Amino acid sequence: MKVAVTGANGMLGGEAVAQLSGRHEVLALGLGPGRPPEGTYQWMEADLGDGVSVEKALLDFGARAVLHAGAVTDVDGCEREPDLAWRVNTGGTQQVARACRALGARLVAVSTDYVFDGASGPYGEEDLPNPRGVYAQSKMAGEWAALSIAPDSAVARVAVVYSGRSTARPTFATQVVDKLTRGEVVKAFDDQFTSTTLAASGAAMCLELLFEHAYRGVLHVSDETVMDRVDFARRVAARFGLRGTIEGVKTASVKLPAPRPLRGGLRVGKASGMLRNRPLGIDDALDRFHEEWARRNAS
Ligand SMILES: NC(=O)c1ccc[n+]([C@@H]2O[C@H](COP(=O)([O-])OP(=O)(O)OC[C@H]3O[C@@H](n4cnc5c(N)ncnc54)[C@H](OP(=O)(O)O)[C@@H]3O)[C@@H](O)[C@H]2O)c1
Repeated sequence: MKVAVTGANGMLGGEAVAQLSGRHEVLALGLGPGRPPEGTYQWMEADLGDGVSVEKALLDFGARAVLHAGAVTDVDGCEREPDLAWRVNTGGTQQVARACRALGARLVAVSTDYVFDGASGPYGEEDLPNPRGVYAQSKMAGEWAALSIAPDSAVARVAVVYSGRSTARPTFATQVVDKLTRGEVVKAFDDQFTSTTLAASGAAMCLELLFEHAYRGVLHVSDETVMDRVDFARRVAARFGLRGTIEGVKTASVKLPAPRPLRGGLRVGKASGMLRNRPLGIDDALDRFHEEWARRNAS
């Protein structure tokens, strides 16, 4: 089947390309030179923020299914460059959804736990979003665009994505490993409760949703454990056999451009009941993260 992935240079999109490679005819779309994993796919540069190129690429390719994982994901950067955030996160999703509508293609658009304000999480799919900050608002508008423009579409929400693949960008999880390995202190927010998402697991759930289910609407596909970031850092350290200092910090003590949900996190019971690729508990997720890390260091 002709399948397109946006954000193919990213953690989740790159993982999806790796999982699709060799099984489907894949168009990997990204910004700049291709950096996704090795495999068999066609690479194309297309800007989600220019209003036209991704839509044209999808139409020319004749996609039958699209995983839309491209976005400006720098939450504080979105506050500094709101126009870019709206162009890419909302306008880019509009482009993708318009193409899917024209092609009659199935769409899964990836979104975020940040659509919730973090007053009383963890949140289920039925809870009312209240996005705070430009990133959250532009992603929320992207969700509406996907669901309202493309008739056969679903939104898959993830949270705090991380990956041990060599092509993945640094994240909080990889920084914990790197810093503790170098003997540096790790500082982490001890009042931000969130879910996490191993990219490989999130991508597998998104692809199953894309191909094997007619489900329309929102589905939460993060890992299943909700914890604060100090707890997450400690679990990463324990899994990697790393000792050292992990220091708790209060969110209010740091001046951050974008608001952070404090009691966030996603409830994933619906995905657990519906999908073959079920959300991972944190221990299983970290086992896989550790394996990815070992492979990356061996290559
Ligand atoms: N990362 C998280 O913690 C997190 C949490 C919740 C939800 N999400 C959502 O999960 C999805 C996947 O993100 P991710 O975790 O894989 O993050 P990521 O690694 O930052 O990937 C996002 C990708 O989008 C690409 N992109 C940015 N602007 C673009 C543009 N104008 N045109 C084309 N591509 C563009 C980026 O390209 P470059 O690499 O070239 O910059 C990047 O490869 C996104 O929808 C994100 O909002 C992520």
